[in-house]
Amino acid sequence: MEKNKLLELVSEMSLEEKAMQMTQLVPDMLYHLAPANLTGPLRQWHFTHGQLRCAGSVLGKSGAAYLKKLQDDYLKDARLPIPLLFMADVIHGYETILPIPLAQSCTFDPELVEENAAAVAREAAAAGLHVTFSPMADLVRDPRWGRVMEACGEDPWLNGQMAAATVRGYQGNDPGKKGKIAACVKHFAAYGQPEGGRDYNTVDMSRGVLRDFYLPAYREAVRAGAAMVMTSFNTVERVPATCNRWLLDGILRKEWGFQGVVISDYTAAEELMNHSVAADVPEAGEKCIHAGLDIEMMSGIYAASLAELLEQGRISEQEIDMCVMRILELKNRLGLFENPWKDADEELEKRLCGCKEHLELARKLARESMVLLKNDNVLPLSTDTPIGLAGPFSNTGGIFGEWSYLGNREKTRTLQEALTEEYGTRLVTAMTDTFCRENSDSALETPPEPEEFPEKSKPADAEALSDRKILPCGESHSVEETRLRKPDVPDFVEEALNRFRHCGLCIVAAGEPEWETGEAASKTDLRLSPNQEKLIRALHNAGKKVVLLLFSGRPLDIAPILDAADAVLQVWFPGSAGADAVTDILTGKYNPSGRLSMSFPRNTGQIPVYYNCYNTGRPVLDPENRFTSHYLDCPNSPLFPFGYGLSYTTFSCRNLKVSEDHSTASVLVENTGNRSGETVVQLYLRDVSASVVRPLKELKGFRRIALEAGDAVEVSFRITADMLSFYNEAEQWDWEPGEFDIMIGLDSEHVECQRVWFQP
Ligand code: NOJ
Repeated sequence: MEKNKLLELVSEMSLEEKAMQMTQLVPDMLYHLAPANLTGPLRQWHFTHGQLRCAGSVLGKSGAAYLKKLQDDYLKDARLPIPLLFMADVIHGYETILPIPLAQSCTFDPELVEENAAAVAREAAAAGLHVTFSPMADLVRDPRWGRVMEACGEDPWLNGQMAAATVRGYQGNDPGKKGKIAACVKHFAAYGQPEGGRDYNTVDMSRGVLRDFYLPAYREAVRAGAAMVMTSFNTVERVPATCNRWLLDGILRKEWGFQGVVISDYTAAEELMNHSVAADVPEAGEKCIHAGLDIEMMSGIYAASLAELLEQGRISEQEIDMCVMRILELKNRLGLFENPWKDADEELEKRLCGCKEHLELARKLARESMVLLKNDNVLPLSTDTPIGLAGPFSNTGGIFGEWSYLGNREKTRTLQEALTEEYGTRLVTAMTDTFCRENSDSALETPPEPEEFPEKSKPADAEALSDRKILPCGESHSVEETRLRKPDVPDFVEEALNRFRHCGLCIVAAGEPEWETGEAASKTDLRLSPNQEKLIRALHNAGKKVVLLLFSGRPLDIAPILDAADAVLQVWFPGSAGADAVTDILTGKYNPSGRLSMSFPRNTGQIPVYYNCYNTGRPVLDPENRFTSHYLDCPNSPLFPFGYGLSYTTFSCRNLKVSEDHSTASVLVENTGNRSGETVVQLYLRDVSASVVRPLKELKGFRRIALEAGDAVEVSFRITADMLSFYNEAEQWDWEPGEFDIMIGLDSEHVECQRVWFQP
């Protein structure tokens, strides 16, 4: 549709129609028109039938047949021919579930991530969706925060690469094309740094930190063409992001030139009153309009206040029209005025969703994402004796992690099934489902889905499933106390030891329950549950070789159990093809190549621990000197650093050479082991002295390379002015002449370094 036709449409819309175009609800609203049928956050808004009939977009439902009918029913009654937009949280897969985003980032393979995102888009588009609330580009440093599973780790460069690749995969060069959907990058901004890792908590950081670490990935997603941006729940410089004019209008629209649609997070507009920056509904509406928030999700601030605000001259009609126009432009970009169903197609949906090709792609992604943390010569498995398999993730399809859209856990192959195919009756199983949490034999069951809204809510029985009770005010108990108070449960250990009496090696598929990851899943204790630790320790003490498979949505605190495991493979939540991917690695059909995108802490008290920190005035140069920045009881370094990961072969990285004009740096990478494998060569820079403090190391490039045993290759990186630049005190993007360290290595701790002088 021509732009002037869109403008005409806007001019024909009533104020109520505009306000509802700017309001996102759930589809049921259209069918349950009686206000008595409204539940949850929507009940209080007293929407009229007329208003409900013209909501501009809906969230959380999919399926070609359902959405086609919904669109038809909606348009049949609509006064103006403006189709609905369908959005949903397709975060890591539609029906074919991919590894969680944190795992995806450990591939350091944006091309494969893009290919998988394109497969996700094909499924979601055929199921009638137009927009996905992904990618999440929030930089994270604190694994206590449950949503690190949806993030791509602690590095801005890697985050940016992953966010951009995901956007390209979903949208291609045009989200309106067949098989494509629009991407909504979130949560703008800095949602990944809530104080104490507690979800929805205050975020507060300097503008320099925001610029250095937190903003770059959103910007890369915007540069890649993301059609939408979602605001975050938190404050940025004491103003909630949802009404933060500096952030939304200043940075996003003016500085980055973003022309798409900005949507709030779920009820975030009404939460301005809880934040105490709006005294009442109209003030919340006024602030959101001035900031340029186009759509509010799941609250009725705009519907309730625009007329009054306009009448009082507190907002202008032009401000409203700009929001509405951006929404119509997105609908137009998706081709909905001509074809309101877009790609919804029952037959195609059936054919594509969960198809073999997509599963195969997901398997590739899953095995590249797994990180081998330790291996004392036990992997790949090469034993003729029986192999034990235990642990709560041994025989479950519940290996998706949160936000797994339509993935079917019942139909998903389990590790036990995949390993039985390899080892037949040599595989001996014990304790395969029950001891993730004490006092519960259903600990891994997914909690019931909330009925009304796609928003995840705390399951009613969550407390019963957890061994961590919420205490009344004034009472407290430490994690250690909690552990000590647990009754000893030696029976299951004995049973396992008995079943494994002929096994020299045991695989323990351990981790955290799926529902302890994702939104509203912050934790203060990141250790494995006591019974899992007990089992691992008991097997080790009985002289078995232990291969620990870690299923988790975050770096866990595994230091207490590390010595008892001979090999540790971090498998994250690997998705629909996860069991096959793990088996590929255990058997050696695939040589592990994942690299950590987030440092592993030595204990919870060390959090946050991340590689790209600023230097302090008292760095630890002399370990004997007490008055330096360190802990008395724990080193500053992580248990496993960013960029780290083992392989079944070994690599060396040497001969760092910097060209005379400093425009390229290269190293010689050699496969020094006896099998082919892949590694990730990493370029880091450090501005040695500048007008403001700079990180000790910053990733500025990486290359995933495959080498046959004995082969070597020279890998070189271009060094550009952009890589040397940062936002200075005047908030200008520029670089400062002087000394820089150029470092290349195979993880963030082990690098070759050359100091060079850059001048204009
Ligand atoms: C709240 C979450 O923070 C956000 O990530 C999600 O997209 C929305 N709910 C919609 O479900």
